[in-house]
Amino acid sequence: MTTNRLAALLLATAGAILFSCQPETPNTEVTSPNGSITAKVGLSNTGQLYYLVQHKGATVIDTSYMSFDVKDQPSFKSGFSITASISETINEDWEMPWGEQRMVNNHYNELKISLEENTVTPRKMNLVFRVYDDGLGFRYEFPEQESVTELLIMDENTEFNLTGDHDTWWLPGDWDIYEHLYNESKFSEIDALSKVGNPNLIATYIPENAVNTPVTMKTQDGLYLSFHEADLTNYSGMTLKVDPSGLKMTSELVGSEILGGKAEVSLPFSTPWRTLQIGEKPGDLIESNLLVNLNDPNAIGDVSYFTPMKYVGIWWEMHIGKSTWDMEGSQDMNTYIEGSKNSSRHGATTENAKKYVDFAAANGIKGLLVEGWNTGWDQWINTEDREGIFDFMTPYPDYDFEEVMAYAKEKGVEVIMHHETSAAPRTYEKQMEEAYNFMKENGMNSVKTGYVGKIIPKGEYHHGQWMVNHYEKVLREAAAKKIAINAHEPIKATGKRRTYPNAIAREGLRGQEFNAWASDGGNPPNHLPTIAFTRMLGGPIDFTPGAFNIKFNEYKEENQVNTTLAHQLALYVVIYSPVQMACDLPEHYTVDGQPHPAFQFITDVGVDWEQSKVLDGEIGDFVTIAREEKESGNWFVGGITNEDSRMQTVELSFLPQGKKYQAMIYKDAADAHWNDNPEAYEIETMEVDASSKITVNLAPGGGFAMSLISE
Ligand code: NOJ
Ligand code: CA
Repeated sequence: MTTNRLAALLLATAGAILFSCQPETPNTEVTSPNGSITAKVGLSNTGQLYYLVQHKGATVIDTSYMSFDVKDQPSFKSGFSITASISETINEDWEMPWGEQRMVNNHYNELKISLEENTVTPRKMNLVFRVYDDGLGFRYEFPEQESVTELLIMDENTEFNLTGDHDTWWLPGDWDIYEHLYNESKFSEIDALSKVGNPNLIATYIPENAVNTPVTMKTQDGLYLSFHEADLTNYSGMTLKVDPSGLKMTSELVGSEILGGKAEVSLPFSTPWRTLQIGEKPGDLIESNLLVNLNDPNAIGDVSYFTPMKYVGIWWEMHIGKSTWDMEGSQDMNTYIEGSKNSSRHGATTENAKKYVDFAAANGIKGLLVEGWNTGWDQWINTEDREGIFDFMTPYPDYDFEEVMAYAKEKGVEVIMHHETSAAPRTYEKQMEEAYNFMKENGMNSVKTGYVGKIIPKGEYHHGQWMVNHYEKVLREAAAKKIAINAHEPIKATGKRRTYPNAIAREGLRGQEFNAWASDGGNPPNHLPTIAFTRMLGGPIDFTPGAFNIKFNEYKEENQVNTTLAHQLALYVVIYSPVQMACDLPEHYTVDGQPHPAFQFITDVGVDWEQSKVLDGEIGDFVTIAREEKESGNWFVGGITNEDSRMQTVELSFLPQGKKYQAMIYKDAADAHWNDNPEAYEIETMEVDASSKITVNLAPGGGFAMSLISE
């Protein structure tokens, strides 16, 4: 090498060091109460904020930079100095009004760093970390300041720099829907754009190679990580853009073509928490309370107007094509498929509703959902302009609203309201007050909402700031009227049920309905063993389990549920929700005119829990969960497997010492199989105590459910 060339190379290297962003030694750090997780925060040589995360001394998130691009102003990026750094420890317990457990411990160490730009009119920003034993959250605060009052955020650039090519369970970063199957691949093999154009989704928009959260990973060292967000308020949902070769994710907020940016905020403003749950076992992720803990305490007071319950409904029959939502006979789930036009098979008739009331009353089921009771369903789906179509006060003429309400009341059944908005939130907001008053006048305390289709106005997306604010407005207005909300096609759950415990459940995943009509064969057997460690980390799921007639060939040859009957029973324990549907038709819950013996489990199983324990599991393969019912002290255990059969031994050491329980075990028959013999099950009864061990064989796509009734 000539001297000149060497000099040039040295100069270039020096230049690179001078001008590229280099981390300095981290300025400060914060550690979890038990010392296992540490977040370190620092400023680079250009004054840019970065952080890294360690678990038991090993780096799990390497140096990751943070910045914001805003409209008509320089980015909040470099030139920062730290002006203050405050630490605090909180250790408190709070009670869930309903939930997976009664008491929650909220114990964390907080570090708040104040930053100021080195300019003539310096702008300010704070970064707050809360580090728990089960993970951490951090968020940005834009405090009140003279030079800035509002910001149009064009991009939030929070990096998550991974330390390996982890096994990853991911969904495409769709701005409109979470109803995709989770995929399992190496991080470097994530290809969200391969999921564009799913024919089963009416509204879907995947602009780039990004994932939605929760996204869960297993490292080479066997550590489990899940990335999500908590307290998503007045901001856009966060997807995570994937850099497959750089093994890095960067926050990518859902945008709005109307806003021309990502989120519009007035100062002071705090972003949602960017969260990382860390577990040494996969079940640690499920037992973690990080997301609810990072939300504000209950802001709406007593919610005893809502009691956790099981419910039946005029619902599955529309999805499998036995009946239609509309009375006109012009649209059902298949018309999208033209052809059944003008053949009225309206499901929500007075007579049919009474039949479901009778079934609920006879089988200890508290709730009844009636979909298709109100006018508007003849135009709900194909119409481009769906504004003003649904009426939330006017029943169809063949549905005598008052008669059904009176009949249900007499039989002790609570009717759940249904409001399908067809993704026209402005129409809904116009009618909301009147619709909620109408509900209360009729003794209704909860409503299932729905947002099928592309959001109106065009340019807004289900997961953008405008809709985040709509979903929150619904929760607030409903709370004021003492109404609980179960939202379908929702914004993802981010633990806000702590602040608004009238947010009882939501969909936000591929629910049972896909088994009824999806052209891709429905949900494969590994769907729910994956969901338990991914989507379920966000919060309660209205999955609507309980299909007993697995193949429903009377209505459809080409679709089926891809699990055994025992797997369906297990879901009442595995997939947590304070509202659990028994989704199948009343006639499918009888055998030769007698109640189906396996329905006893659905009658018995709890819906509100004192405590929950994950006994075993591996992501996407299997999971076994035990939950103790509040008040009764009865325990219920559910286990599900993917397409592989397996033996599971359940040690009942979670039971109190010395107490006897009557166990009923609902399990796959020896020759059961999700496809070949899905309805074959057995029931075994025995007396057990804390020293008992029960071994069950789970069929391919199978499961088991146990009730342990205290004697
Ligand atoms: C989609 C919901 O997920 C489903 O449960 C409901 O039946 C239909 N929309 C109609 O509202
Ligand atoms: Ca849906």
